[in-house]
Amino acid sequence: MAAVSRRNPATFKNRIKSSYPTLVNLGILISGRGSNMDAILSTVQAGRIRNVKPCVVISKKADAAGLKIASEKYRVPTEVVPAEGLKGWDYDQKIVAALQKHDVLPQAGLVCLAGFMRIISPEFVRAYKMRILNIHPALLPSFPGLHAQKLALDYGVKVTGCTVHFVDEEIDSGPVILQKPVPVLEGDTEETLSARILEQEHQLYPEAVRLFADGRLKVDGRVVAIAPG
Ligand code: GRF
Repeated sequence: MAAVSRRNPATFKNRIKSSYPTLVNLGILISGRGSNMDAILSTVQAGRIRNVKPCVVISKKADAAGLKIASEKYRVPTEVVPAEGLKGWDYDQKIVAALQKHDVLPQAGLVCLAGFMRIISPEFVRAYKMRILNIHPALLPSFPGLHAQKLALDYGVKVTGCTVHFVDEEIDSGPVILQKPVPVLEGDTEETLSARILEQEHQLYPEAVRLFADGRLKVDGRVVAIAPG
């Protein structure tokens, strides 16, 4: 360890400052109930994710229940960005503007898709390269897209689960960060299976955000290595 010069107190100050990682500004995109958003924000509030500052929760629809939870329970600013028939980058640039307004900046912030019911454009993905995460209710690459729990039941798999992954330009296809298996039980319905998967999602997503914010995710092609804590 380098000695700290008494004659240069700035050196000591700088060392202290650099031993704390910079806060990552977080934006969360939702469409509905926002239970994954709730899980992330409550983990931050409990001090179990130290390096994240929740800056904004954004929804396409004003009646998304998660917006109320964000503002009333966590005092996190919210934005509604109506789609008004806009598609692709025409819409996404409005989302990016809302993120930037709240200091969730490209190449610096983190964007979590938490039930955001839109396919995001390549331009958005490129602007926030490897800084957009998504949660999917299946063990990817199985059952991408909508209705993953029903597809798993119909296929007859004995194990499904959930996946947190980086978002790339394809649907549910980016590098996998964390996965959690959930057994399919005899007599399961889409509702009972979804509820058990959701329980695991609420553990998995905050954990992935924590690993990201602590700078512990090293991406090499498709493979994400997790550095020891
Ligand atoms: C979750 O099942 C998530 O895996 C999927 O959409 C659902 C969102 O639920 N992408 P919530 O709004 O977080 O409660």
